[in-house]
Amino acid sequence: MPSGNDIDRFIKPHFIAFDGYSARKFPQTLSDKLGVPVDRVIKLDANENLYGCSPRVNQVLAGCSDINIYPDAGQTELRKLLQEYTGISANHIVVGSGSGDLIDLILRLLVEPGDEVISCVPAFSMFRFSIEMYGGKSVAVLRDKSFAVSVDAVKSAISNRTRVILLDNPNNPTGRVTSQRGILELINIGLPIVIDEAYIEFGGESVVSLVSQYDNLMVLRTFSKWAGLAGLRVGYGIFPTRIADYIMKIKLPYNVNVAAIIAVRESLRDIDYLMGNIRAIIAERERLFTRLQQVKSLKPFPSQANFILCAVVKGSAIELRQRLQEKGILIRYFNTPLLRNYVRISVGKPEHSDALISALQQIEEEING
Ligand SMILES: Cc1ncc(COP(=O)(O)O)c(C=O)c1O
Repeated sequence: MPSGNDIDRFIKPHFIAFDGYSARKFPQTLSDKLGVPVDRVIKLDANENLYGCSPRVNQVLAGCSDINIYPDAGQTELRKLLQEYTGISANHIVVGSGSGDLIDLILRLLVEPGDEVISCVPAFSMFRFSIEMYGGKSVAVLRDKSFAVSVDAVKSAISNRTRVILLDNPNNPTGRVTSQRGILELINIGLPIVIDEAYIEFGGESVVSLVSQYDNLMVLRTFSKWAGLAGLRVGYGIFPTRIADYIMKIKLPYNVNVAAIIAVRESLRDIDYLMGNIRAIIAERERLFTRLQQVKSLKPFPSQANFILCAVVKGSAIELRQRLQEKGILIRYFNTPLLRNYVRISVGKPEHSDALISALQQIEEEING
């Protein structure tokens, strides 16, 4: 019997050096470590919706009696609900266990080991994870100083192994949007292209309505951010019908669970309530941006999403993250060649921003004596 590292010779070669995904720490884990009660942890590290989901979701889930029955693998009700919501016909739509599931399915469908996938970096880190999952090579095209995408740079990165272009719009982690004109130029290159609109409810212009005109355009959306359903895992893609058919064939049959289906149904019935929360988050983003501009150690970048990227211009991002964590406030930090000494702060409710700003002021005082 092989033992220890011997088993590695059975592992697919591209997984041996595979890094995996560095997910955010679960609040309970941190709370235990820091001694801060979990209900006092302010979680601004994963771009979740701190207003929570629609109360209708909680009410209906409490009485849900279908948990012993598999969900509909054909997603008939969900696709119909999303047809009504998006105005795009159901045969273009596939629902996933979060939009991350759909990124994975698209790459499973299109990428063979050695193929290349272009993304404009910095970008959502799951892109690279999913590309490498299928043995693909992630080709990183640099955004400019203001994090804008250069269509020419994308064009020059194309090779005969390029299979897909991935673009998150608005972009995570910068909050920068790409104009519809820029996206059209990318679509017209003719390669399969995925526009990930996880944050589109907070800003930017959707290209969903273009899907029926282009057989290479795929658009991803999620209920994690605007509808506050990150924990139930539900996202959807709008595809050319031919691609939608393939994705329906290769997905795991029951990829969207019964609770998530109920949550979508109830969220769409409570759209005015959820839109109110989106408006509040957008207003708070602008207020927080102004307040962050007044923090001497930070340089915030304008954002069209539910988070704000900041360069740490004095001191170190990792230390700032650590000091905030000790006060029960979680943020994301970056210290990569692309984002050297940056933090990303999710936009919560006004009281969360207030707590953050006063913690930042305290930290500045501690550091400056
Ligand atoms: C750009 C982008 N796309 C997709 C996702 C994944 O969302 P989901 O929860 O739907 O898997 C995220 C999550 O942070 C994201 O930032």
